[in-house]
Amino acid sequence: MAHLLVTGGAGFIGSNFVHHVIDTTDHTVTVLDALTYAGNRASLAGIPDDRMRFVHGSIDDADLVDSLVADADAVVHYAAESHNDNSLNDPSPFVQTNLVGTFTLLEAVRRHKVRYHHISTDEVYGDLELDDPAKFTEATAYQPSSPYSSTKAGSDLLVRAWVRSFGVEATISNCSNNYGPYQHVEKFIPRQITNLLRGVRPRLYGTGLNVRDWIHAEDHSTAVMTILNAGRIGETYLIGADGEKSNIDVVRLLLRLMGHPEDDFDHVADRPGHDMRYAIDATKLRTELGWEPRFRDLEAGLTDTIDWYRTHEAWWAPAKDATEAKYAAQGQ
Ligand code: NAD
Ligand code: TYD
Repeated sequence: MAHLLVTGGAGFIGSNFVHHVIDTTDHTVTVLDALTYAGNRASLAGIPDDRMRFVHGSIDDADLVDSLVADADAVVHYAAESHNDNSLNDPSPFVQTNLVGTFTLLEAVRRHKVRYHHISTDEVYGDLELDDPAKFTEATAYQPSSPYSSTKAGSDLLVRAWVRSFGVEATISNCSNNYGPYQHVEKFIPRQITNLLRGVRPRLYGTGLNVRDWIHAEDHSTAVMTILNAGRIGETYLIGADGEKSNIDVVRLLLRLMGHPEDDFDHVADRPGHDMRYAIDATKLRTELGWEPRFRDLEAGLTDTIDWYRTHEAWWAPAKDATEAKYAAQGQ
């Protein structure tokens, strides 16, 4: 049994991870979360108090972070500003949370000699051409495009430097696009599902030919647990489940699964600097640590996700109007 400090545990992937830990281990968890617009305490409902403590606070609060890290056996760092579109409108919280917040955590794990796992994204590698047979590997050069991906890239580089210079016991994972329950309605898949539930047509940026490599959040959690338990210190592992699909194909699939004609969507203004394609080669994680994804069928995973949003309107409805007002103001 161990005690984990999970930052960002009230967000999408962090809350999925906390549920996974509670359901599959006897570990206890402290969640540190600032409850920004993206954090939702309700995403952790049902977890007993003797398994999880919730601390409302920020990862850039050095004293708070120091006291929580001192009590932990390991830190799993999910907290971030996570949405590319927001980073184009106002990059400053991305610099503060993703860079200064990560720095604050690294200094604390360094002082207290606590194992640290850093959650990152494949977007640090920039993008691939549609017709390029290549996928990202751990050896791909960093070439981030947006304020979001560049601050995540910077945070990864801080971790690497703290490993090399100070001997911090850290691992890093870079995962592809996640889907599943508890994802904020600003993101692509929940936005389209909740639009359809409200009788609004899906919105596709630009041509919609951009490709994302989809993985279920539960598979992301099993991969992180695998790396936490067996990953080699100082190493980076890419996490992906061979789920490449163009945005337009995802929208058509959602429309079909929800009983609408497949062409019932609108093209809207493209995202500036929009990355064309992401694709992960997860060979290292699979061969070295023996990890395999469980959700291999995107259609089945999306069917479950649609059902989740259909039955959890009270969870997503409070954020929907404000999110759509923001998109409307930028023509999306
Ligand atoms: P999210 O936006 O849903 O959740 C982020 C959480 O962090 C929220 O609960 C928010 O309140 C919290 N937070 C923000 N600033 C904070 C601060 N200063 N202090 C403490 N808590 C703070 O994000 P997500 O999609 O769950 O992403 C989680 C992590 O996974 C991020 O590091 C992201 O870069 C990474 N990631 C995401 C994806 C994806 O598809 N969403 C893919 C790969 C990696
Ligand atoms: P998003 O969920 O924002 O993730 P990321 O930018 O990290 O990949 O977007 C996924 C893809 O969907 C991306 O190519 C942008 C596109 N997109 C749309 O076409 N329409 C939308 O309404 C949104 C939010 C995103």
